[in-house]
Amino acid sequence: MNRKKMVAGNWKMNMTNDESVNFINQLKSTLVKNVDVKIAPSFTNLYNAILLLDSSEIEVIAQNIHYEDKGAFTGEISAEMLKNIGVKTVIIGHSERRKYFNETDSILSKKVKKAVDNSLKVIFCIGEELSERENGNHFELIKNQLKTGLFNLSEQEIQNTVIAYEPVWAIGTGKTANNHQIQEMHEFIRQLVKDKYGIGFSEKIRILYGGSVKPINAKDIFSLDDVDGGLIGGASLNISDFNSIVQAANG
Ligand code: PGA
Repeated sequence: MNRKKMVAGNWKMNMTNDESVNFINQLKSTLVKNVDVKIAPSFTNLYNAILLLDSSEIEVIAQNIHYEDKGAFTGEISAEMLKNIGVKTVIIGHSERRKYFNETDSILSKKVKKAVDNSLKVIFCIGEELSERENGNHFELIKNQLKTGLFNLSEQEIQNTVIAYEPVWAIGTGKTANNHQIQEMHEFIRQLVKDKYGIGFSEKIRILYGGSVKPINAKDIFSLDDVDGGLIGGASLNISDFNSIVQAANG
């Protein structure tokens, strides 16, 4: 099955608005013919980024949303607020949200539902800690994260979702999972999608890898059968590294 590759840069809590404008002005010239390229700036940079990339193929996406429509939730951002400035996709369930902001699978499930109800596409992140892999619990854990966080969606609702597998021990550590570990887990995830939603969707859904993807390893990782691109943290903050990773996905 020929799935279009995706490379999404997750800027996390990096870049001021000025830095972001500067980065985007350089990124604009990136050739992205056969790759869906996305960047996820912080909330304060989103609107400017969207204006700057208005006529570009590069999409500006959000790093998080809240699961309520509106109200007394100081510091939170709603789906409607994002939609209103032109955001169409949101990352949900990043391991840093899970770890530092106590976002459980059931909270994430509410966020996913809110996004989908507002016609926002979702990049849903899953991944195990090192101890879980060492104990041999990683498959079970991934299964539960998907079951509780994502698989409450109906077949129709899940159509625009992308899954990002990011082993927590590989995020920002310089330690990449090896190709065998990556392919094995991606295949497992696709099988779970197949069991739940059928072969048609399982062959269509894109599964990204994240965790220390760099220009030096991107091509190998993206060439694995069940890897459809990457969610890039650190290397997405450097224009030449990010460009190289996009080109690695370009084939
Ligand atoms: P990293 O982050 O590329 O810096 O490891 C990936 C991510 O957190 O999405």
